[in-house]
Amino acid sequence: MAGIWIDTDMGSDDAFAVILAARHVPIDGMSLVAGNAPLAQVTRNAAGFAGLLGWDFPILAGVARPILGPLETAQRILGDSALPLRGEAPLFEADACAGAASFGPFLPSLSAWLEAADEPRSILALGPLTNLAILALARPDLLDRIGRLVWMGGAVGRGNHTPSAEFNAFADPEAVQILLDRGVALHILDLDACRRVLIDEADVTALAAAEGRNSVAMAQLLGGYLDIALTRGRPAMALYDPVAAAALIAPELFTFTPARIQVECSGALTRGRTVTDFTSPRPNGWVATDLDAPAIRERCLSALAQV
Ligand code: RIB
Ligand code: CA
Repeated sequence: MAGIWIDTDMGSDDAFAVILAARHVPIDGMSLVAGNAPLAQVTRNAAGFAGLLGWDFPILAGVARPILGPLETAQRILGDSALPLRGEAPLFEADACAGAASFGPFLPSLSAWLEAADEPRSILALGPLTNLAILALARPDLLDRIGRLVWMGGAVGRGNHTPSAEFNAFADPEAVQILLDRGVALHILDLDACRRVLIDEADVTALAAAEGRNSVAMAQLLGGYLDIALTRGRPAMALYDPVAAAALIAPELFTFTPARIQVECSGALTRGRTVTDFTSPRPNGWVATDLDAPAIRERCLSALAQV
């Protein structure tokens, strides 16, 4: 299979998604975007995982601010690092993040990757779409090289960061609209889809006992991720970004339905809402409306147990 590009705001579920994808397809490059945390922290997280897991693909720095609005992060939920952990042991070696300072700008590398494409390319987007919107504005000639832009984002139903909006859409709604307006083949794994793929305490326990070289560290990370739900009185946590990774590597596990998606950019209460019309004669994207949740869960947890 041809290599993919991953754009990410490198929180816990982003790392789970990269680990899953990397077991099935080559990763040709990764660009980082502010989202779960400010770009500097996202960059440190990516450098840390690269050192821990031996990632050898290029990692490039994206942009630190959304297209128009103020920077919005999820640190109030995730903590300053955006990598909530169980236990006291640090996830990364003290100097693991030293490489972060050397990450070059993403646009030349992503543009060259698309220019070299002899077939349409697949991009996996796991955070706000700021970097990809900038690509669309700076290099519109390359958009037809993108065969699929598979994005974890948006909410057909209720939001998570606000009652109306899912975080990745809320963090940069103008970026989503820019891409929708330019006919990029956006395949959306929204909150409704991702909320069907859950992990719980038994999964953390099983991961801690797995044979993988990093399964104890992954259990620390999955446990800290689960605690986001447990501390709010919920017994299980949705696997957001890994669901998007699964849609890219195993599309047979999903049903995508064409729809016309429009993003509210000015509503005081509804900014970031992805208004989705499945009846429109002018669809501009696809939304996952069915999926094989047990199979997706198994692929993700198996990847974490063996990394
Ligand atoms: O709303 C969930 C999304 O926001 C996930 O991609 C998570 O990593 C955060 O980026
Ligand atoms: Ca993410």
